[in-house]
Amino acid sequence: METSIKIDLEQLINSLDPVVVELGCGKKKRQGVITVDRVDLSNIDIVTDMEEGLGFLPDSSVDQIHCRSVLEHIENFENLMREITRVLKKDGKANIFVPHFSNPYYYSDYTHRRFFGLYTFYYFVETHKQLKRKVPNFYTDIRIEILSLKLVFRSPFWISRRLKKIFGVLINSHRCLMEFYEQHLCYIFPCHGIEVVFMPSRE
Ligand SMILES: C[S@@+](CC[C@H](N)C(=O)[O-])C[C@H]1O[C@@H](n2cnc3c(N)ncnc32)[C@H](O)[C@@H]1O
Repeated sequence: METSIKIDLEQLINSLDPVVVELGCGKKKRQGVITVDRVDLSNIDIVTDMEEGLGFLPDSSVDQIHCRSVLEHIENFENLMREITRVLKKDGKANIFVPHFSNPYYYSDYTHRRFFGLYTFYYFVETHKQLKRKVPNFYTDIRIEILSLKLVFRSPFWISRRLKKIFGVLINSHRCLMEFYEQHLCYIFPCHGIEVVFMPSRE
């Protein structure tokens, strides 16, 4: 797929402060945000297939990346992680939301390619900064610093929504509880998704 850039990208990167890019924006439009999507909607500034990376963005040019409910659609996840860390400035941040593997609605969407767990983003983190359960980080040389990670509990049903809100506050209050939850409870009280904020590793 050929990338179509409908804005003066160079001028925006030089003038916007901060430079904010929304990957897989869909129909949302946010003022002062460079929007990227595969579908050529009227609010999209850059139409591209992110399976091929973010080659239209220079290295270290972006302050914030937002990416909500998108990475589960991506086949070439590791390459997109590489691209996100490449285009972020040294202190730039990625704000990501992805569905958790226990989310019962995950499987209904036939365009979903992958799911995520508590540990997925830790595969890109130095061992000494990981959770209690260590995961291999030798699959890749991409390194990130996780600034925050939260399990999100949500339900369309009124009572479940209230209960899950309280449950979420409790589970997210300590990393050990999050690890315990995923191993022992996630199929009893499913998790909606994971909100993670990370930056390229400084190490
Ligand atoms: C579930 S929607 C989420 C939209 C928006 N982020 C939101 O939270 O409402 C997923 C979006 O990712 C886009 N997308 C999926 N795969 C893509 C790809 N390979 N390249 C670019 N955009 C992609 C889709 O077109 C769609 O707009």
